[in-house]
Amino acid sequence: MPGLLSPQQSDDLIDRIEQHFDRHGLGVFAAEPIQEKTLIGFIGLNIPSYDAPFMPAVEIAWRLAVEQWGQGLATEGARTVVHHAFNTLQLPSLVSFTVPENMRSRRVMEKLGMTHDPSDDFDHPVLPPGHRLRRHVLYRLQRQH
Ligand SMILES: CC(C)(COP(=O)(O)OP(=O)(O)OC[C@H]1O[C@@H](n2cnc3c(N)ncnc32)[C@H](O)[C@@H]1OP(=O)(O)O)[C@@H](O)C(=O)NCCC(=O)NCCS
Repeated sequence: MPGLLSPQQSDDLIDRIEQHFDRHGLGVFAAEPIQEKTLIGFIGLNIPSYDAPFMPAVEIAWRLAVEQWGQGLATEGARTVVHHAFNTLQLPSLVSFTVPENMRSRRVMEKLGMTHDPSDDFDHPVLPPGHRLRRHVLYRLQRQH
């Protein structure tokens, strides 16, 4: 988001993810299918570095290689991350967000039990006014105990 990364930008992103783990004790995990042991993307937790109406919050996020879509992998990984967030890290709640048209990602959020209140929808602060991906829907999940 908002576009395809170059190999250098991808390497820089992994450096920033490792720094995020060092700083916050959480981050997005490398996603590897058990059968293949190759990096196919990430699934995990992130603290947004910008201000937004829903902040402060911890985000659950995912991004997988397109050839891996449609096998339930994002949901499988995200369920494990939710368990880690609520039971190991004892976080009280999570958010997740995407553009309204991203029905795959929204479906993953719904399968996790996340709920969407349209009054939470927001303009992504990193994108300029008029950008086609600026409007975002927000989903929330509370710990159940
Ligand atoms: C979002 C993403 C991680 C989903 O990965 P995935 O492994 O395909 O997800 P899953 O297979 O676990 O679940 C996808 C669900 O969306 C459903 N789906 C697929 N296309 C759909 C569509 N056009 N409309 C509605 N639902 C759709 C699938 O049927 C499935 O739901 P089901 O289990 O009820 O059938 C992947 O598409 C991706 O990496 N996208 C690019 C990055 C991204 O959008 N990240 C999040 C927002 S920034």
